[in-house]
Amino acid sequence: MSFERHREDFTVSTDPGRLDVHAIHAFLVTSYWAEGIPRELLERALRNSLCFGLYERGIEGERQVGLARVITDAATYAYLCDVYVLPELRGRGLGTWMMERVMEHPDLQGLRRFSLVTRDAHELYRPFGFTEIASPGGPMEIVRPGIYKSLPHDPELS
Ligand SMILES: CC(C)(COP(=O)(O)OP(=O)(O)OC[C@H]1O[C@@H](n2cnc3c(N)ncnc32)[C@H](O)[C@@H]1OP(=O)(O)O)[C@@H](O)C(=O)NCCC(=O)NCCS
Repeated sequence: MSFERHREDFTVSTDPGRLDVHAIHAFLVTSYWAEGIPRELLERALRNSLCFGLYERGIEGERQVGLARVITDAATYAYLCDVYVLPELRGRGLGTWMMERVMEHPDLQGLRRFSLVTRDAHELYRPFGFTEIASPGGPMEIVRPGIYKSLPHDPELS
């Protein structure tokens, strides 16, 4: 069952059927972390994640204005990524409100580890208990920055 919360004209929902893949792709394809991501790859990622869509109700209906994607086993571990709010709506607490909804989700309670990587938005996450890595010598990773930029671009798919 999906999870839904409201504030003024805004809704956070985990209903996968409500996600606007076109709108999400339009934002993420130019983001610094997922630049060039192919749409079909994004669709697969969304399908296999717990996604918190942020929606605004307006006179012309509803539009997707943000996202937080959580990759998780819903028991011990979660990884938060693809967090954004559209530029025209930033700075009015919506990112924080969306994060509050993520942190209260029933599948994300009692985890042994909740991770994320950010270039400059540390202050968004700090109030929720995220800290810099205490033992930076511990975590290991395979990281491929710019991986999508090397893929052939098919304008039909983006
Ligand atoms: C990060 C982001 C989601 C925040 O959304 P928002 O609705 O503006 O967030 P809020 O209004 O709730 O601000 C919460 C706090 O986040 C921090 N913050 C917000 N945007 C920030 C940014 N671009 N860089 C650094 N810190 C930021 C500020 O500390 C802010 O607190 P303050 O208002 O008391 O100064 C939004 O700026 C965004 O979409 N940025 C581009 C995408 C991105 O960088 N995402 C994060 C990837 S890890």
